[in-house]
Amino acid sequence: MPENILIAIAWPYANAEIHVGNLTGSHLPGDIVARYHRLKGNKVLVVSGTDSHGTPIVIAAEREGKSVEEVYKKYHESFIEVFKGYGITYDMFTTTHSENHFKVSQAMFLALQKNGFLFKQFSKQWYSPSANKFLPDRYVEGTCYICGFEGARSDQCDNCGNVLEPEKLKNPRAKTGDGQLELRETEHFYLDLSKLEPAVKKFLEERAPHMRDTVIGESLRKIESEGLKPRSITRDIEWGIPIPTDEPGWETKKLYVWFEAVIGYLSAPIEWAQVAGEGETWREWWINPAAKQLHFIGKDNIFFHTSQWPAELMGAGSAFMEFFAGDANAVPLTLPYDVPANQFMNLESQKISGSRNWAVWCLDALTRYDPDALRYYLTVNMPENKDSDWDWTEFVARNNNELVATWGNLANRVLSFCYKHWDGHVPNVAESDLRDGDRELLQTIAAGFDSVGAELDAVRLRSALGETMKLATAVNVYLDVNAPWSAVKTDKDGAAKTIYTALRAIDSLKVMFSPFLPFTCERLHGFLGYESPVSGEQFTEDVTDSLGTHKVLRYRGVGRDGIPPYLWKPSELKPGQKLNQPAPLFKKLEPSVAEEERGRLGS
Ligand code: MF3
Ligand code: ZN
Repeated sequence: MPENILIAIAWPYANAEIHVGNLTGSHLPGDIVARYHRLKGNKVLVVSGTDSHGTPIVIAAEREGKSVEEVYKKYHESFIEVFKGYGITYDMFTTTHSENHFKVSQAMFLALQKNGFLFKQFSKQWYSPSANKFLPDRYVEGTCYICGFEGARSDQCDNCGNVLEPEKLKNPRAKTGDGQLELRETEHFYLDLSKLEPAVKKFLEERAPHMRDTVIGESLRKIESEGLKPRSITRDIEWGIPIPTDEPGWETKKLYVWFEAVIGYLSAPIEWAQVAGEGETWREWWINPAAKQLHFIGKDNIFFHTSQWPAELMGAGSAFMEFFAGDANAVPLTLPYDVPANQFMNLESQKISGSRNWAVWCLDALTRYDPDALRYYLTVNMPENKDSDWDWTEFVARNNNELVATWGNLANRVLSFCYKHWDGHVPNVAESDLRDGDRELLQTIAAGFDSVGAELDAVRLRSALGETMKLATAVNVYLDVNAPWSAVKTDKDGAAKTIYTALRAIDSLKVMFSPFLPFTCERLHGFLGYESPVSGEQFTEDVTDSLGTHKVLRYRGVGRDGIPPYLWKPSELKPGQKLNQPAPLFKKLEPSVAEEERGRLGS
C-alpha cells in the first residue's frame, strides 16, 4: 500500500535571497526525502511557499523603498528560480499572500476560538510617538533579557534561540530609526498554550523515539523548565491577514506572522488540490491518521514546529473542518510525524551573513557550478546533528575525489567502453552465465536498497549518501579485479560478463543516487537506453484570486493515479538493450577555484 507522505518545508521570508545555508537547512533535505519516497511508490506532496507577511517584509520594503507587495513578489519569484535551478520538486510552492491562505488561517483562528483556546488581553507594546504607530517584533531590537545578546529582536533572539516577550527587551531601539520608544497598552488575542501544554507534551513523548535528539531534547526541555505560556497571535500592523471578528477596533490589527505562516502547511495542499484539479484529495494527507508529515526546518524554528503548530492543530481539532468546509461530521487534522530540524551551515568558519555578503548565494553559484555538484557537497556536509562548514577547498576536493573520481568516472568508463566494444548495446549475457564474483557484486548492490533505504527512512541523509558512494567504490574494486579493459582482447565473453554486471550495478546505483543527484542520474538513465524518465518535471503557473495574481511552482510526476512507479529495487537491465552515446556526468574543478571564490566573499 502506498503511503501518503507530506513533505512540509519551512516558508522562507520574502526579505532576502536564498543562500546555501537555507538550501541545506530545509529545502534540499526535504527534496531528497521526497524523491526517495516517490521512488518507493509512495504518494508524496511537497509544500512550502513564501512567508510574505509580518515585520521582516515590511522592513525590507522600507529598506528598498518599494511597496510590500512588490518586495514580496520579487523575492518570491527569485525563490522559484532557485528551486527550479536546484531541482527542489515542490508540488506547490505558493505564498501566504493568497485568498486561500487567508481563508484557511481565519478558519483556524475561529476553530481555536470556538474551542476556548483564545482570549483577549491588554499588554504593553513598544510605540513610537514620532511615527505614531506601534512597532512590533523585528521593528525593535535591543539586548536579550535571557542571554544578554545585544542584537536581539523584540520577539526572538537569534543568539540563544529563545522566543521573547517584547516588553522585557532591554535597551530597545527602533530599527527604522523612529525616535524614542515608549510602552503603550494595546489589546491582542492570545493563544492559550498553557491549556494545550499537556497535549503537546504527550504528542512529543509519543514521537520521541524517532525524533532527532537535538530536536526532541530542546522541545521537551523547554516545556519542563518554563512550561508553555499563552502567546499573542495578533499584531498592530497593516500588512497581513485580517482578524476574523466583527468587533470594532480590530481593523488595524492583523494575525501574527508566526501564527499564520505555519498554517501554510495546510493551506498549500488545499491550494494544490484546487489548482491541480484534485478536488478533495488533499484530505489524504490531512484527514488521515496514517499519513506521515515531515517538517524540514532550521534549528531556529524548532519551537514553532514542535510546540506551537501541533498546539494550533490540536486546539482547533475537528472545528477547523466545520468552519472551513461546513463539515458537520468533521474529524481532527493529522499531526506532524517528525521534525528533522537541521543545525546551521557556516561559511569558511564564519557565520553566514547576507548583509556582509559572507554567503554563497544559490542563484549566483549556479552560474559557475552544476546543480548536482552543489547538491552533492551540500549533502555530504549537511548540518544534521551539529553545525557544519562550507569550505571552498573541500568543495573542490570532494567534487574531484568523490563525485568525479569514484562515481562519475565509474559510470562514464563502463558506458563508453561498452558503447565502443558492444556496438552501443548492453552485452547479451544470460543470468545463468554469471560467475560467482558477478553474483556477489550484484547481491552487495541489491542489499544497498535496504541499507540506504533505512538511512533515508530515518532522514540520515549524509549517511545514506556515504553508503551509496561506498557501493560505487565496491564496483570500482570489482572492475580492478576483473580488468575488462584488457580482457576484451583475449576473452571477450568474460569481459562481456564483467561489463554486463557493472552496468547492472551502475543502473541500480543510478536509482540510489537519484534523490541526491537528480539531474545527472536522469542523464545516465538516458544513456542506459531507458525511455521514460526517473522523475517528473517542474513548471510554474499563475494563480489569480481576489488579492491579485501570484506565481506558483509545481511538479508533474511520472506514474498513474498519483502513484509513481516503484523504482527503488535492483536493476533489471535487459541484455541487448540499446544504449545512447554516453558523456561525462561531472566536471573536474581546478584547485584555483577555491581562491577565486574566497575572493568573492565579504565584498
Ligand atoms: N519565515 C520563517 C523563517 O524564515 C520560517 C517560517 S516556517 C513556517 O525563519 F512555515 F512555519 F512559517
Ligand atoms: Zn538571547
